[in-house]
Order: sequence, then C-alpha cells, then structure tokens
Amino acid sequence: MPDQLQRILGIDLPIVLGPFGGLSSVELTAAVSNGGGLGSYGLYGYDEARIRDTAAALRDATARPFAFNLWLPTGDEIDASPAEFDAAVQSVSAFFDELDLPAPVRPRRFLPDLDEQLEAVLEAAPAVLSVVYGVPSPEIVEAARHRGIRVVGTATTVDEALALEAGGVDAIVASGAEAAGHRVSFLRSPETSLVGTIALVPQVVDAVSVPVIAAGGIADRRGVRAALALGAAGVQVGTAFLRTRQSAANDAHRMAIDSTAAHGSVLTAAMSGRLARGASNRAVEVIEASGANAGFPAQNWITGRFRAEATARGLGELQSLWLGQAAALARHDDAHELLRELAAGLAAEPQP
Ligand SMILES: Cc1cc2nc3c(=O)[nH]c(=O)nc-3n(C[C@H](O)[C@H](O)[C@H](O)COP(=O)(O)O)c2cc1C
Repeated sequence: MPDQLQRILGIDLPIVLGPFGGLSSVELTAAVSNGGGLGSYGLYGYDEARIRDTAAALRDATARPFAFNLWLPTGDEIDASPAEFDAAVQSVSAFFDELDLPAPVRPRRFLPDLDEQLEAVLEAAPAVLSVVYGVPSPEIVEAARHRGIRVVGTATTVDEALALEAGGVDAIVASGAEAAGHRVSFLRSPETSLVGTIALVPQVVDAVSVPVIAAGGIADRRGVRAALALGAAGVQVGTAFLRTRQSAANDAHRMAIDSTAAHGSVLTAAMSGRLARGASNRAVEVIEASGANAGFPAQNWITGRFRAEATARGLGELQSLWLGQAAALARHDDAHELLRELAAGLAAEPQP
C-alpha cells in the first residue's frame, strides 16, 4: 500500500508534512519535499496574490512535488450580527490595549473567496491539492485532474471517508482526535466525531479503496510503524515538524510543544469559533470565561488581529499554540533529521 501512495503522489517516502494554516513556511515545506516526502503548505486566509507568490517561492526552493491545502466552506459559517461581533471584540479588548492596538473594525469580508483561491492554486498546479472541511465539488476535482493535480481529502470519521471517496479524491487523510489544530469534521459536529487514530485508521482502510494517510499523534518511527500496521499507506505529521527550526513557529510555540504532556492539550473554539487542539493560555482562558464568541469566521478574524502581533512579539499567552497529544514525543530540531527518524519506521524490520 505505501507504494501506491508514492506512485500516486510522485514521492519517495510516504511521509507527509501536515499543512499549517497561517503558520506554514516555504523552508519547511521544501525541506520535506526535498527529503523525499510530501511537503504541504496551508493556504488558509491567503488571497490570489499571496498564493502566486508562495507558489513561486516554493518552486525556487524545490523541484519535488508539494501540496497546497485549502479550507472548503461548509455552509455553516456564521454571519455574526453587529452585536455578536461587538461582544466578541469587547471580550478581548484588554488584549488590544495591552498590545497598543486599535480595536478592530468589521471588515467587508473575513476570508478570501474560495473561487479566487482555487484559480490561483490551479494556475500554480502543485502536485497535490489537499482540502479540509468537506468534499470538494465535482468541478474542483475535474479542474484539478485536468491539470494533473491529485486531490486529497481529510476525514475524521468513516462516513466522511466514504463521502470523500464517492467525491472522487485520490487519497484520504484519516485525522485522529490526537491531532493538532482544527477538528475538520463536516458531517457531524466535531464534538461527536472525536475518534482516536488507532481506531479510525483501520476502519477507514476497511471502508475505502483509495490510499489512507494516518494523521494524529505520530511523531517518531514507532508511530509510523503502528500506522502502517493499521493498514495506512502513509502518515501525515504536524506537531513534530512544527518544532523543527525550519518551521515558522516562534520560540513560545516551541516551548509549548516541549512542555505539554500527553494530557495537557485542550480542545477549544475560543480562538477561531471552531474546535481546535492546542495548549491553553491566557487568551483561551479569558475568552472561554467571557462566554462571548462570534463564531467562525468572525471570531478567527477578531482574535487574529491581536494574535498576529503577539506572535510577532513572541508572547505565547496571547497567540494560538496549536499542538497535538504527541507533543512530548517531538524532539528533533532539524526537519531532515526528523524525516530520517520517521523513515526508519518504514523499514520491514524494526530499526533500533
Ligand atoms: C499550527 C497548525 C495549523 C494547522 N493547520 C491546518 C490546516 O490549515 N489544514 C489542515 O489540513 N491541517 C492543519 N493542521 C493539522 C496538521 O496538518 C496535521 O494534520 C496534524 O498536526 C497531525 O497531527 P499531529 O500534530 O499529532 O502530528 C494544523 C496543525 C497545526 C499544528
């Protein structure tokens, strides 16, 4: 099965760097692709121009296949009322004051249009387009296929995997509840779709005929070996790569990865209006205690105004600290070394 994934995606190692919406770096994506895996780059919030610039930078940094990742609209996006928007801003006004930032004014739109993003992605023609939060439309799959782009969907339940296969995707990421970042469920609520990787992967493998990529809680050769034993064709790794020096994470984020125990992460909708796994901090605590949340995408946009500044200043208490339950297993400072560690799990015989 691993061979099948390598053939489809044009890679040497069935190891995928997870995309990091808002935190991907060209350096890390290229390092994983150049090392024989599939580097992914998260395009959440990117407009056409930024997608074109990123594609050009990636082409300069690697001649190997890479993936672009998009969030699909679910139709459940909340159009926050002026009152909800103001209440959410009010609940974090102390952070704007603390950082000497003006209170945000509601923008014309919170996110770039998906069609605009897609046009730029199709033009850039990455080897792979991976998506979260839904099944890509037949038009998207057809347009990608026309340009030789493979399409990878993301499932958190068996039903989602079946829907993605019916939608014509080339491979499926099975994202267990251990994983860092947003719970990308789209058929049921994320709260009722929390299946762990070890239960999810073999059930998805049994249900679909396309290759399955295991994600969530994999950070070393043991996790890779376990995923393959469960029938996965490959793995997608996030947190462990985020810790490496090639990633865009700041020191506060790296320290959070180093200091979060297996039980230490939380699932919270405080930062974005959608459930996501990360380390708790003052921002999460204050927002949760306030009870105000404008919902996605407004909440993500509002907190994004202070998070960007806090991240730039290295203030971990006021930024997002997405990380998964295997954070404490993330030990490598260098992406090439981590890739070698993960590749050791692909060998037929356990490597010491
Ligand atoms: C900062 C951050 C941002 C993420 N953003 C995205 C995203 O935009 N799209 C996506 O498919 N996955 C996203 N993820 C999930 C990862 O790509 C990956 O699937 C996950 O981290 C795997 O679990 P692990 O962290 O236990 O290895 C994100 C993860 C992190 C840590």
